[in-house]
Amino acid sequence: MKFKKICVLGLGYIGLPTASTFAGNGIKVLGVDINNRIIETLQRGEIHIHEPGLRDTVKAALTSGNFKVSTKPEEADAFLIAVPTPFHEDQFGEYNGQKYKLADMRAVTSAAEAIVPFLRKGNLVVLESTSPPRTTLELVAPILARSGLEAGRDFYLAYSPERVLPGQILRELIENARVIGGVTPESAQAGADLYSIFVKGEIVKTDATTAEMVKLMENTYRDVNIAIANEFARLADKFGVDVWEAISIANRHPRVKILSPGPGVGGHCISVDPWFFVETAPELTPLIYNSRQVNDAQPYFVVGLVKRALGSLKDKKIAALGLAYKPDVDDLRESPASEVVHLLQREGAKVKAFEPFKLEGLPGMDMAENLEGVLKDADAIVLLVKHTEFVSLSPLKVREMTRAKIVVDTVNAWNSDEWLKSDFSVSRLGVGK
Ligand SMILES: NC(=O)c1ccc[n+]([C@@H]2O[C@H](COP(=O)([O-])OP(=O)(O)OC[C@H]3O[C@@H](n4cnc5c(N)ncnc54)[C@H](O)[C@@H]3O)[C@@H](O)[C@H]2O)c1
Repeated sequence: MKFKKICVLGLGYIGLPTASTFAGNGIKVLGVDINNRIIETLQRGEIHIHEPGLRDTVKAALTSGNFKVSTKPEEADAFLIAVPTPFHEDQFGEYNGQKYKLADMRAVTSAAEAIVPFLRKGNLVVLESTSPPRTTLELVAPILARSGLEAGRDFYLAYSPERVLPGQILRELIENARVIGGVTPESAQAGADLYSIFVKGEIVKTDATTAEMVKLMENTYRDVNIAIANEFARLADKFGVDVWEAISIANRHPRVKILSPGPGVGGHCISVDPWFFVETAPELTPLIYNSRQVNDAQPYFVVGLVKRALGSLKDKKIAALGLAYKPDVDDLRESPASEVVHLLQREGAKVKAFEPFKLEGLPGMDMAENLEGVLKDADAIVLLVKHTEFVSLSPLKVREMTRAKIVVDTVNAWNSDEWLKSDFSVSRLGVGK
């Protein structure tokens, strides 16, 4: 199948790089977002998210005339849906007395509805948003059928999950293997034709529900693996062991690959996607459910460490380094680092935070504009995110900027001996030695 024009709905971390990459490959792209502010920002040639290289790619796409943006879709050969699929903040399911989170599919529903008036015979629609199993067949296809056209017969419909790593999106978009699950084999082939415009990685065709499951399995596997790493960190703390050393030795076993512990699991993928399995089959998912519980409780464990180092937290001045959910990104969604700050505040600590990728932080947080500002009056420094800028901090330099004597490293970024030499006492997550 040949594509001259495509329409990408949702211009966030996934949709904007995808849309501008297609445009950079000679396809006419209409980028659609319901957020007016985002459309205005893009029309000025600016971007609203931090992602290395994205500004240049978007600028080039806009200048070439191939990339246009709007709040409304238009007719196109293909429609890609890359809208958010978070969980509901205020609605829960319950199974055997245990509460579980529920996917909020309103954005997918409204994006599919927005396509209906523009859908034509022979078009391709691809859902990219991470979704509970059977969403393509049972939510998206029936909405699109309101056009009078049937998925798999009159138009192609596929699910293709995104696996890019924030911070490396533009490279991974092209190089990663891509799964394309069609509601029919012809739909999978149409999806493969579309993505082969720029994808250099392997394109694997399957059915839509398998592709949905693959995406959830990947992130659930990581969540469960991190949960066990976090439990190992708690055990190491109890038994006087350094978990980081223990994991690195265990990982020399040829068939063992334990991930890293930390202050918790965040972002809107790994901490969200496992719930999509729990929601659709709570009776089959006790391991997935409990792993989520372990990872969600990890910020409390970190606060316990800070308490052990500082005694009472009441009125203690704490410098929190990092709020993002992982290193070198500006994304604070579901961030365990931000959760630790909230919990410390709740314990009466006076927390000042510094997030180099998002200086404004979150509402209710006292933010510093730079390192000097966050460290100046601190009693203790808590490192919450392994941003490159923090990893490379020299304890000698930090000593000149602060009177703090206590450092809590929750991400194993710093060499404790070096910090001890500069008159800091160091607690590391998962180190009971
Ligand atoms: N960010 C990642 O690293 C990543 C990785 C893999 C998968 N995903 C999945 O991709 C999907 C999109 O994630 P994201 O990070 O790009 O989200 P995002 O929040 O950065 O961007 C989504 C955009 O969609 C817009 N939107 C909402 N409803 C819309 C509608 N009806 N029509 C048009 N636009 C609409 C929003 O205004 C927003 O700008 C999610 O399902 C996510 O789980 C994300």
